[in-house]
Amino acid sequence: MKVVVLGTGHVGLVTSATLAKIGHEVVGVDSDPQKIAQLRKGEAPFFEPGLQDLLDEVIKKGSLKFSETATDAVPGSDVAFICVGTPGRPDGEANLLAVEQAAHDIAKHATGDIVVVQKSTVPVHTAERVKTTMSRTSPHVFHLVSNPEFLREGSAVEDSLKPERILVGADEKEAHRIVRELYSPLLNDDVEYHATDLRTAELAKHACNAFLAMKISFANALARICEAARADVVSIADIMGSDSRIGRAFLNAGLGYGGYCFPKDVAAFRAQAERLGFDFGLLTEVMKINAGALDAAFLKVKEAVWNLEGKRIVLFGLAFKPGTDDVREAPALYLAERLREAGAIVVGHDPQANETAKELMSSIEVFDDPYEAADGAHCVVICTEWSEFSDLDLTRLKGIMTHPVIVDGRNVFDPSTMEEAGFTYLPTGRPPVNL
Ligand code: UDX
Repeated sequence: MKVVVLGTGHVGLVTSATLAKIGHEVVGVDSDPQKIAQLRKGEAPFFEPGLQDLLDEVIKKGSLKFSETATDAVPGSDVAFICVGTPGRPDGEANLLAVEQAAHDIAKHATGDIVVVQKSTVPVHTAERVKTTMSRTSPHVFHLVSNPEFLREGSAVEDSLKPERILVGADEKEAHRIVRELYSPLLNDDVEYHATDLRTAELAKHACNAFLAMKISFANALARICEAARADVVSIADIMGSDSRIGRAFLNAGLGYGGYCFPKDVAAFRAQAERLGFDFGLLTEVMKINAGALDAAFLKVKEAVWNLEGKRIVLFGLAFKPGTDDVREAPALYLAERLREAGAIVVGHDPQANETAKELMSSIEVFDDPYEAADGAHCVVICTEWSEFSDLDLTRLKGIMTHPVIVDGRNVFDPSTMEEAGFTYLPTGRPPVNL
């Protein structure tokens, strides 16, 4: 099929490349000329394992092309995907301006009936709004589909080519038939295909993300209790996770969740519930506990180094999670800001996200070499659980730091190893060592 994808960010680009890989003719459209120029040179504009190879393959095959405007990309398309950003407004509601613009662009340039698939995470009833916008712009018929993405950054290509499940919401049988045909090369016994109505699909996506965020906040609340009780939150998570009804994933206490999805999606879910007349207080607590995880890490640094003024604090890990260079809503950057406001000298190191961190926070000095970053440091804070940090030469690190102090915001290390290595070690939700 001929497919046009509006938005070539983490979701849109991976979706475009996946659809091209499975045999469709795809044009990716983005209003950012710099991004399109990079893509036309065959360069992935962000780090994602496997993405550059996938792009090389489908661009060489000629099944994925890029355009700055919908003008020449939409005409003749069978399916149009809306993969634009839906950032949060101050009141938590999703900002749907880009979605409305995409809907208008598709309608304006459509040369016949077209299936319109919204993949961006949007509040319930957005599809109806999109349909109304398009009907006001064009005489053609637009078949609306909600097809939320479940890609995790750091494994987006894998999640896209081998999805656990595909969720498709539509109120018309023909729209369901077309989208199922579109995805048919991906379907096998390992993929759960959920076909439902538009509103259910829109809400299900928010439910999934909010539940995962709630699970993380439950672990972080446990961490606060364990710190007070001197118990071990990692062991508790292991014990809980051995119950198949709970599951171990997403029970890692740490600096809290960040990224472009969870923070905005939890706020947007709470806002739309309120708009529908339900006070989703549970999500208010999820957000509060998440903020508290960052506070706890800040207080640990203060507890470990005493006065912060003039102290060199090194953040190991700047990306919001390992496997990506994405620093949007990264706990590390919020922690850096808090520490700088308290007078500390904050520097950082990340295996992938040094450049993106500097773009977002020009004041942070970043180092490609972790030992250079830690030279003379009064404290190292582990903010992202990159596997590189587990392999650090602790003897070398101890020798170059002013004081051998590590605050482990992601429980990367084993406390007994840190005790043997002679560090003052403050993990998350576990008893401190040599404090
Ligand atoms: C998430 C959802 O997992 C994915 O299904 C959805 O499509 C998009 O949003 P993503 O934001 O890429 O994916 O990353 P994820 O792996 O979910 O982590 C989100 C945040 O939670 C990260 O900051 C991570 O560090 C944090 N996290 C995750 C924890 O703090 N503890 C955990 O146990 C798991």
